Amino acid sequence: MISVSGNTIILHPDDLPTSWYNIVPDLPTPLPPPMDPEDGPSRLQQLGNIFSKGVLQQEMATDTYVKIPDEVRELYIQSGRPRPLIRAKRLEKKLNTPAKMYYKGEFYSPTGSHKVNTAIAQAYMAKKEGFERMATETGAGQWGTALAYACSLLDLELTVYWVRAASSWKAERFRLMQMYGADVHPSPSSRTEIGRSMLKEDPDHPGGLGLAISEAIEDVLNDDKAVYSLGSVLNHVLLHQTIIGLETKKQMELVDDYPDVVISCLGGGSNFGGLSIPFFRDKIKDGKDIKFVAAQSASAPNLNGEYRYDFGDYAEQTPLLKMCTLGHKEHFPPIKADGLRYHAAAPIISALRAGGYMDSMIYPADEDYVFQRAKIFVQTEGFVPAAESNYSIAAAIDEALECKESGEEKTILFNLSGHGFMDMHGFADILKLR
Ligand SMILES: Cc1ncc(COP(=O)(O)O)c(C=O)c1O
Repeated sequence: MISVSGNTIILHPDDLPTSWYNIVPDLPTPLPPPMDPEDGPSRLQQLGNIFSKGVLQQEMATDTYVKIPDEVRELYIQSGRPRPLIRAKRLEKKLNTPAKMYYKGEFYSPTGSHKVNTAIAQAYMAKKEGFERMATETGAGQWGTALAYACSLLDLELTVYWVRAASSWKAERFRLMQMYGADVHPSPSSRTEIGRSMLKEDPDHPGGLGLAISEAIEDVLNDDKAVYSLGSVLNHVLLHQTIIGLETKKQMELVDDYPDVVISCLGGGSNFGGLSIPFFRDKIKDGKDIKFVAAQSASAPNLNGEYRYDFGDYAEQTPLLKMCTLGHKEHFPPIKADGLRYHAAAPIISALRAGGYMDSMIYPADEDYVFQRAKIFVQTEGFVPAAESNYSIAAAIDEALECKESGEEKTILFNLSGHGFMDMHGFADILKLR
């Protein structure tokens, strides 16, 4: 059922996990609950008007394993799951490192990234509950495309508020979302009150994820048939993404290996959490000695922010969540890896960070270092990563070069969260390609 061919470890669709893993009951200390701010209406009560019931139930799930509905599993398989785990032997050779490097191929996805894993689950619940339309934000555009794909398969309409700084140079991704039937608007837009007020302040406002979230929430609060969907940060999103790490554990078992280091880029935390959470379980419950590294941009190094209650969006429509945060009103300089430009990290990841369970690496905002590292990967492994995934590669290469210095034969596992076929303009700008 399972096969290892050369450097590639592949699971049969029958071996796709049947449940997602919920780390919340296994966390060393209870996860601080969402709260209402002192002023204004109850944001907690409003959640029922924003999210589907299914999503809210999963957000508060207390069971350790949550069954993946058969229809969702079927769609996972159609979207190319289980995805390969690849031993980066050519990269190892190029680096002349004694380390073993493995990467999970989340880029083997119809829309280009891991975001499909939660898009399918969320669209499935919205459809089941009779909603006709979904609305969302997107930064890199990968999440918007993933939800556009899921909505199109499940016959739902979709409105996307896309951070202007990224939408302005990703014309092909804009077209792909439209091909799936989504209605896409650069954010801030003139469709919402918060968008209009921002445009009044600055007609060329570059936008930001916190602001685009505010636009999408305002949109659904004005339409009973519409439901909001978030592509990162929240517990249910990380729950869906654990499919990545659960598959990877089976794949590593097959080659009788286990990671010493687990690495991924982190914006809100969904791909990092997806890969790492099943391994965090082993560290917390079984005392496994694993180092976890989240790769971030100096533009928005949210894991170095304060661990405190903060809003998830710019306009303060969400409840307060306890997160490592740089502040929901802060502006962050646009970067090519726009999916990493968010003010806070997921509550689950933030709790692990505050508990001393993980490290972070912060790379310069001019992005030359990470894109040069990604070029080495492209030339050895052959896959073109998404701009965000370049950060995972940079951190994995740095770790492998440390092993070269020390002579340690560590096993390094990293996530290739997406492909960059629609990000070539970003590569061209940073690497001065013609
Ligand atoms: C390909 C890819 N990787 C990573 C990220 C970062 O988000 P998260 O931290 O939720 O994985 C994004 C966000 O848009 C993305 O598109």
